[in-house]
Amino acid sequence: MRVLFVCLGNICRSPTAEGMLRRQLEEAGLADRIEVDSCGIGSWHAGKAPDVRAQAAAASRGLDISAQRARQLEDDDFIRYDYLLAMDHDNLAALEARRPGGVEAHLGLFLAFAGLPERAVPDPYYGGDEGFETVLDLVEAASNGLVAELRRRLERDA
Ligand code: 4NP
Repeated sequence: MRVLFVCLGNICRSPTAEGMLRRQLEEAGLADRIEVDSCGIGSWHAGKAPDVRAQAAAASRGLDISAQRARQLEDDDFIRYDYLLAMDHDNLAALEARRPGGVEAHLGLFLAFAGLPERAVPDPYYGGDEGFETVLDLVEAASNGLVAELRRRLERDA
């Protein structure tokens, strides 16, 4: 199974989500069953490492996201991935607008898996460091819920 996280620039929120899910899948013993990647709606930061503030916030929780490189969403992603999970409503609207006909992948908000009232991960790019802590809190909760969903699905499909 394959999961793709989608935000605007692919340098703050979706790389954080990718790093968090990778670690949680390793802890759950599911890392070899599920492929994880992230991308951006925009291309401005393609080829770049995550924002230094996102790297520092992730490192403070033991996550190393420094090796990731940003890329833009591609049409093939709708075929390749089973879950395309958007960080906010704008990202989801952009995904839905680009979805080719006949695609069965799940398109939705990542935070739907969090069991929290929040529905969107706020864009931290133009804010202060506390925004990056909020991203980590929300992403950690949603990632936990997503691991549970993926585990149920793997068991159901087994
Ligand atoms: P991200 O944050 O979507 O979480 O990676 C942003 C990064 C860059 C920009 C906007 C949001 N930007 O406008 O360049």
